[in-house]
Amino acid sequence: MKQDTIMLPSLREKEMELPVIDGDLMEQLKLVMMQSQQFQEMMMMYKCAIREVRTKAEVLNDEMSVRYHRNPISSISSRVKQPESIAQKLYKKGLPFTVEAVMTNLSDVAGVRIICEFIDDIYSIAAMLAMQDDLKLIKIKDYIKYPKPNGYRSYHMIVEIPVFFSKGKTPMRVEIQIRTIAMDFWASLDHELKYKKNIAQEDEEVIAQELLSCAERIAETDMIMQQIRMKLDAVEVKKARSEIVLDD
Ligand code: GTP
Ligand code: MG
Repeated sequence: MKQDTIMLPSLREKEMELPVIDGDLMEQLKLVMMQSQQFQEMMMMYKCAIREVRTKAEVLNDEMSVRYHRNPISSISSRVKQPESIAQKLYKKGLPFTVEAVMTNLSDVAGVRIICEFIDDIYSIAAMLAMQDDLKLIKIKDYIKYPKPNGYRSYHMIVEIPVFFSKGKTPMRVEIQIRTIAMDFWASLDHELKYKKNIAQEDEEVIAQELLSCAERIAETDMIMQQIRMKLDAVEVKKARSEIVLDD
């Protein structure tokens, strides 16, 4: 067996019973993954793919800030999935711990999060990215139009972007999440709830209910903010038109 190719027995049939890997095994897997040259290269490739997507978003933001005097993107963050999480996901899916299994089956090793002020900006940025002919759209999940039952809202795209390395062009998958500042604020608190270990079930249920109601109020506020934005834009347009008429 190659040093960087560890095979676990197929666990597909036991997937439901074995949601977490035993701590010791996880440590060993992490160590082997970290030491493997092929794995290091794969992580570097995902980092490069992230850079390409970030640049695309930054270019669109710069263009729109010059053209319309405002930034549709308020911030961008990104991350490469932790080796433990990669191992955990492969294990859950009953896949071998190989670079090939990661590259062909996991779509969220590279993640870019784009935060916008307004809902319309989310759809504009998503459409402008999808239009780019070097970017292949693999999957869209619109959790803004169709929120999750817990209230989660965000626009998700899985894209494939070509990255040019010395050996040639490699298509790399990147998960892009686009959401408003308010949706992001909500998601970070919800994320905290998910990872709180010592929380009593009844407390968890109360908090989940409160979060759901916050998500609904946030969605309403995002909509009102969008309408105000449009009114302000309309005032700008009216002013610009009257200036053109005066110039004539
Ligand atoms: P994963 O296996 O978790 O990646 O789910 P999936 O492949 O079904 O994709 P999905 O689009 O549902 O979720 C992808 C990512 O979106 C997650 O890894 C989270 O970062 C984020 N996400 C999805 N649902 C929630 C949620 O309810 N709360 C929060 N805070 N984040 C979420
Ligand atoms: Mg994920």
